Amino acid sequence: AALAIEDMTVRGAPAIGVAAAYGAAIAAYNAPEQLEAALDRLSKTRPTAVHLYWALSRMRSVLEKNKDENNLAELLEREANEIYREDIDINRRLSNHGQTLLPTNAAVITHCNAGALATAGYGTALGVFRAAAENGKKLKIYADETRPRFQGGRITSYELYEDGLDVTVICDSMAAFLMSKRRIDAVITGADRVALNGDTANKIGTYNLAIAAKYHDVPFYIAAPLSTIDTNCLTGADIPIEERSPDEVRVIGCAQVIPERIPVWNPAFDVTPSELIAGIITEVGILKRPYDIDINKIFNDGKHTAVGGN
Ligand code: MRU
Repeated sequence: AALAIEDMTVRGAPAIGVAAAYGAAIAAYNAPEQLEAALDRLSKTRPTAVHLYWALSRMRSVLEKNKDENNLAELLEREANEIYREDIDINRRLSNHGQTLLPTNAAVITHCNAGALATAGYGTALGVFRAAAENGKKLKIYADETRPRFQGGRITSYELYEDGLDVTVICDSMAAFLMSKRRIDAVITGADRVALNGDTANKIGTYNLAIAAKYHDVPFYIAAPLSTIDTNCLTGADIPIEERSPDEVRVIGCAQVIPERIPVWNPAFDVTPSELIAGIITEVGILKRPYDIDINKIFNDGKHTAVGGN
């Protein structure tokens, strides 16, 4: 499970959390004496998506409450199933809130993949598009291809096309020009971690898109479950940003396009400042600026628990 998360066989913040939860359950069945080591190993896979820590902390609390039970593995598996089921339900709820933001005929841009293949199912940003379509809205969706891993070109386009939605792929560098040429009603992306002030880490390139949206007066929304919010991070500066192998940039498909001797910098995520974000779409509704007020209210109501990351 740890290797699958590291090499991005499983990717997307909520999906990483679900995979880690099942990884912990598998360890409990196969090597119960090494469960602590397994949890530790899973926590070191990818640093930015807070779901990983959120899911592992749920697994850890089941472990702590049931240390001496002989059906511990079963209890951990049950918790992983619960995390999986909850994620689909939450995505449907947040998507229903999000679709209210879109007009009947909407042109939208998204970045990376925040769909069924990034979650347990249905998706967050793509869930909003699915819910809009289910409500009879007509969408024209532009998917940034999302260099260097092409999650938009490969995964988002696949998901939307297979759902019969109208999807067009663009290179990341085309989004600003597209906004200047055609009416775009909204930009909606997912998130890997949201700080208390609303600053949001998401796939590299999201920040560029948010700046372009601001310049062209297009509202930029984040769609993310409350489990994406890390109240231990006061601002985006506190969010750890993963840097991945330069080869992801150097090599496209089977072709090495940038030679070894040329340095490459490959941060996997960027942070969009909260002032560029028009709203954060969650399962309890759409949060507005100043985000810390809404976020504190939600986590102080006794019904939702904030879980900090690493
Ligand atoms: O590196 P990835 O593919 O795991 O990055 C995924 C993203 O940035 C998604 O937008 C984010 O995890 C939200 S998925 C609902």
